[in-house]
Amino acid sequence: KVKPIPQTSSLDSTLALFREGYAFISNHCDELGTDIFQSRLMLRSVVCMRGEEAARLFYGADDVTRVGSMPWTVLRLLQDKDSVQQLDGAAHLRRKAMFIDVTMDDAAVASLVERFRQHWLVHFDRRAGACDLRDAANLILTKASADWIGIAPRWRHDDVKLARQLGRMIDRTGRPGPAAWFALASRRRIERWLATIVAAVRDGSLEVPQGCALKQIGLDYRDADGERLSPQVAAVELLNLLRPIAAISRWIVFLALALARNPQWPERFGHGHDDEIEAFVEEVRRLYPFFPFVGARLTRRHVWQGYSLREGSWLLLDLYGTTHDPRLFASPMNFSAERKLSWRERDFRFIPHGGGRPESSHRCPGEKITVEILKETVKLLCGFLPLRIAPVNAEVPLSAIPASPVPSVRITSRSSA
Ligand code: HEM
Repeated sequence: KVKPIPQTSSLDSTLALFREGYAFISNHCDELGTDIFQSRLMLRSVVCMRGEEAARLFYGADDVTRVGSMPWTVLRLLQDKDSVQQLDGAAHLRRKAMFIDVTMDDAAVASLVERFRQHWLVHFDRRAGACDLRDAANLILTKASADWIGIAPRWRHDDVKLARQLGRMIDRTGRPGPAAWFALASRRRIERWLATIVAAVRDGSLEVPQGCALKQIGLDYRDADGERLSPQVAAVELLNLLRPIAAISRWIVFLALALARNPQWPERFGHGHDDEIEAFVEEVRRLYPFFPFVGARLTRRHVWQGYSLREGSWLLLDLYGTTHDPRLFASPMNFSAERKLSWRERDFRFIPHGGGRPESSHRCPGEKITVEILKETVKLLCGFLPLRIAPVNAEVPLSAIPASPVPSVRITSRSSA
């Protein structure tokens, strides 16, 4: 028997979303005693869902698409039109296979991590005094990813500016209006610059090392029709590496807070318990807020847990609420690396980067990179640097999307310790 979908009492929940941020979907689910409810956001009808079975629909079913699932500015600031995330079926599988080759190959990931390590050491070796950890990590990751992708320094105008622009694309997703338009304008300039680089690789004026992403995406990859990506689309996909790698800086800040707040762990890592680092990093990715939810649209009618969802329905999956659901994670607001979570499980419960199999769904292909960079950061923070993170008691308000500690976290390097 088909059940009616519970509805929120207000006509439109946009203001509640801005007020409640990451907690919005779970608050309403708890209020209504359900894992699914219908509401309106920006005057558009939306079905909000949370939990393992909802994630299975988003990452396991054929009848969902990401096309039309995000407000226009959010789409343009993040994945962008014509990107892998906007493809479905065979076209998606083919483009995604290329991403998996680029981002999940062991040697490729190791070479990115090594570049990150080198830039980190140079950066902090030169600095005295305290600096903003997110800004520093953002710049270090930008340099490491640009090198790794194959963009030689002589093709880069200003890494500091590039890092700032990449950071803005994430910072401004939750703020419609002029702030987002400004970030969009600089994004277009970066896309044009990347398209010029792709053209230079194709006409031979820029030589790129074997195996780098610039060669794989710009030169070698062919869509099903045998054609290369246009320089504009190749630029969008290169940006889909640069931007999220720089965004790992957000996790780095949360990681530093978690280390400072749970001092028994840096103590253990300092004594060589490296095999425990991954579980620590994974718990950081579960506990701290990053992507609040993802959107999708139904391409045909679907019955989910007895609820009939119409073709064309706009759906939101609560990533944050699912990773903080007490039915899935005991005492979910407590940090506990003993949970021993792992992205390798490919399940539908631990879903900060989506669920299921990345090869055949829209799950993030950059999860391995993220985890390996964070593991290296633990070693850098616990080894090379004495752990001087402040303020340890910074709050992380859930109302702002994307979330950041207030006040921002600062790090003091060894030379000034
Ligand atoms: C997709 C989160 C890092 C590249 C996704 C999705 C999430 C996510 C939740 C699924 C979107 C959906 O279901 O529609 C994150 C977070 C990151 C991160 C929180 C932390 C910084 C990365 C990295 C890369 C990357 C490092 C590349 C190196 C992508 C791409 C997609 C994606 C290309 C689209 C995949 C598809 O549609 O098949 N990411 N990601 N992400 N991510 Fe990430």
